[in-house]
Amino acid sequence: MDPIARYLEDHRDQFLEDLKAALRIPSVSTQPEHREDVRRCAEHLAAHLRGLDMTRVEVMPTVGHPVVYAEWTGAPGKPTVLLYGHYDVQPPDPLDLWQTPPFEPTLRDGKLFARGAVDDKGQVYAHLAAIEAHMKVDRKLPVNLKLMIEGEEEIGSHHLGDFIREHRSMLDADVIVVSDTGMPGPDQPALTYALRGLLYAQIEVTGPARDLHSGHFGGAVTNPANALCGIIAGLRDGDGRITVPGFYERVRPITPELREMFRAAPFDEAAFMRESGAPAPFGEKGFSTLERTTARPTLDVNGMWSGYIGQGEKTVLPSFAAAKVSMRLVPDQDPDELAPRFEAYVRKLAPAGVTVKVAGLRGCPPFITDPDHPMLEAARRALARVWPKPAAMIREGGSIPVMTTFQQTHGLPSILMGFGLDDDQVHAPNEKISLTSFYGGMRSAACLYEELAKV
Ligand code: BES
Ligand code: MN
Ligand code: MN
Repeated sequence: MDPIARYLEDHRDQFLEDLKAALRIPSVSTQPEHREDVRRCAEHLAAHLRGLDMTRVEVMPTVGHPVVYAEWTGAPGKPTVLLYGHYDVQPPDPLDLWQTPPFEPTLRDGKLFARGAVDDKGQVYAHLAAIEAHMKVDRKLPVNLKLMIEGEEEIGSHHLGDFIREHRSMLDADVIVVSDTGMPGPDQPALTYALRGLLYAQIEVTGPARDLHSGHFGGAVTNPANALCGIIAGLRDGDGRITVPGFYERVRPITPELREMFRAAPFDEAAFMRESGAPAPFGEKGFSTLERTTARPTLDVNGMWSGYIGQGEKTVLPSFAAAKVSMRLVPDQDPDELAPRFEAYVRKLAPAGVTVKVAGLRGCPPFITDPDHPMLEAARRALARVWPKPAAMIREGGSIPVMTTFQQTHGLPSILMGFGLDDDQVHAPNEKISLTSFYGGMRSAACLYEELAKV
């Protein structure tokens, strides 16, 4: 066995403990009460990197949560790899549905359960293990390495664009590597070449100045909850098509070749539907499930509130209703172009008798890269050394905001080599990482650096 793989095998328990230590820190970026925890997580990561003999390690401030930056540049003449990941996590809610506490990582049936286990601490730590193996066995890496691990991915990376532009030369590289995506199954790895973008908004509807008796006033004024339902219903037609004017203008059509690729993709639709727990599939008419989740845009309510939602009944006409709405975007949709169109259309849908505010309208563009790039070829070779099945080239439905920024500022090719599985409960209670993904991810990362050194 090659000594790097040997080292990874021999230190499995230690690597698992390293990951668990990181998972114990509740680095929930969206909640202000966790601000110090987020910072502590950044410091923890930096301390770990210092132990790996990087030539530079810094916790760098941004307007929001800090970026952990590290580099090792001892391979002159070899490519420079910029490794991106995030150490922040989604809120663990709803808490009572966790079988074991979200920030007390627990091993069950070869899976490690904790918030952030696979998204993205586990995948980041797989790379750190690969770096450690190379450094301990060879006292060097096959490539120059720069690491940028951020703390605001789960809230849209809104300060990272400025950070990247301000530190442009520090971040210069030949390729960007990210492990924050998924794979079709436990024996088949993947390289993701497209992600969706996002446009997020909060619709706030105000009617009467205060809550009213729904008998005394009911029938005489517009109920903001009813109005909000009307607005939301108006945003899509009965076929699941979004009705915002111009919404589909820049959507790349699904060519016959692409349709064939989707048809042949390693995607178990029945298993995917079972995993969702939904009683039946539903989506835009004329498209398959895989097309709907990766190559077509969506509009979904992510949360809504109004009136009385406690036990029993209360006859009240609420003065206020609100909903969080997000749209997943596909190439070549532009969130900045769609934002004002969305807002104008929401206003148009609003009935008389209420005032409507569209707040927090912001997003990130979709991402797509050339699936035939030589850098991806190297990644394919690396994955072939580790997994039983060859790597699938896939598109995914989630978003990583910074991907397009890097394309624009640095013109870099990107390798999205992720190890998440459909049943990992990402963003949900009982998130986990399979040890096959964690250990396979380490070996894949170790091989990837070697293969990239040959490009
Ligand atoms: N790792 C995910 C992105 C992802 C999910 C890629 C599934 C591929 C498949 C990432 O951490 C994430 O959750 N991103 C957010 C971004 C948003 C807050 C701007 C998302 O997609 O909701
Ligand atoms: Mn992630
Ligand atoms: Mn996430």
